[in-house]
Amino acid sequence: MTTEQQRTRPDKHHYASLTGDTWAVHGGNHADATTGAIRTPIIMANSYLLPQDPTTIDAPGFDGLVYTREHGANQRGLEEKLAALDHGEAAVLFGTGMAALHAAFFTVLNPGDHAIVSNVVYMRVAGLFDSLLPAKLGIDVDFVDITDLNAVRDLVRPNTRLIHTEVIANPDLRVADIATLAQIAHANGAVLTVDSTLTPPTLARPLEHGADLVVHSLTKYYNGHGDAMGGVVIGSSALVEQIRTGALHHVGGAISPFNAWLIMRGSTTLPLRLQRHCENAQAVAEFLLDDPRVAHVTYPGLPNHPQLAAAQLRGGYGGIVSFALNGRHEDRLRFVNDLRVITSAVSLGHDETLVAYEQYPQGPAAAFDPVFQQHGLIRLAIGLEATGDLIADLDAALTTAYGPLP
Ligand SMILES: Cc1ncc(COP(=O)(O)O)c(C=O)c1O
Repeated sequence: MTTEQQRTRPDKHHYASLTGDTWAVHGGNHADATTGAIRTPIIMANSYLLPQDPTTIDAPGFDGLVYTREHGANQRGLEEKLAALDHGEAAVLFGTGMAALHAAFFTVLNPGDHAIVSNVVYMRVAGLFDSLLPAKLGIDVDFVDITDLNAVRDLVRPNTRLIHTEVIANPDLRVADIATLAQIAHANGAVLTVDSTLTPPTLARPLEHGADLVVHSLTKYYNGHGDAMGGVVIGSSALVEQIRTGALHHVGGAISPFNAWLIMRGSTTLPLRLQRHCENAQAVAEFLLDDPRVAHVTYPGLPNHPQLAAAQLRGGYGGIVSFALNGRHEDRLRFVNDLRVITSAVSLGHDETLVAYEQYPQGPAAAFDPVFQQHGLIRLAIGLEATGDLIADLDAALTTAYGPLP
């Protein structure tokens, strides 16, 4: 077969029957028509050639590329992959996870609407609902323990338009019952938005349990290598189109083609990496649970976890382990600073394990288990290193800070 013939064959990567791990490898990648390169190249152009009749770009159904803030070749391929991995109809990319979350809320909410928000969510989302959305858009917000479904039901009002949660909450790792929250939202004509950053497919697919929109910070597990930022909103074609033509076109938090390409490359190994993240996290959580220097450990895969994580999680419980250490603040600082393999830095989902220690003196900590309020919370974003090396690093730093086990 000549190269010319190969180029004119239907693109195998269009076949919708490719799912799961295979789709993570092949989805959204298209051979380059100009060079024959088997990977979509990075298209660093702000504009695309207009059609012969440029006025057609505003016609309904026009799906050509025009301007990179609104769409580009790298964005399009990645959106195709991400929508299918979450079993959604469509996806729209943004420059960060926060831009994607903001776009979803900005689209769904109108002045005077009421939103019910989990009282443990990524802190910038908490800030958005705590001050910016009420002050700028006149949104009324109630924060609630999202695992207390009766409390959620009790908060619903006629003007409730949105319920927002994370599947596994950052940072205290409580697990939300997405299916029941979807029922509560839909019975009242509201929309359920779910931040699934800590649980990318294959760990969870919130749309299958009734969520209307799922959001990921692609900065985390999807990219996986700690070197690019991005965000995505996935859902029905109608809602995603509303987000694209409203928030993306007019507010403009677009992703760069280079970052979309990096995330596309990282995402090919997502299922494999998640498996390792989960295995390592489970082993680290079990190690910490048995250590008397540790005051409390939370990990959805531990038998002491208060929510039935297994209900909507499959294939693992994620890569984050949160724990509290006994002793004084100084002991905990000594522990964190003595770690040699594990790096003290924010973020999660990277190839390397990261640790973030926060004292949480007030604010969202009010919702945490009292042990975290008393001792602070140490979040381990477990990476892909050898399990034994991670446990040895933790053990050595605990010994430096607290002395050897009796
Ligand atoms: C659960 C969760 N959602 C959203 C975000 C925001 O993503 P980004 O940093 O890409 O804006 C983060 C960031 O840490 C996060 O942990």
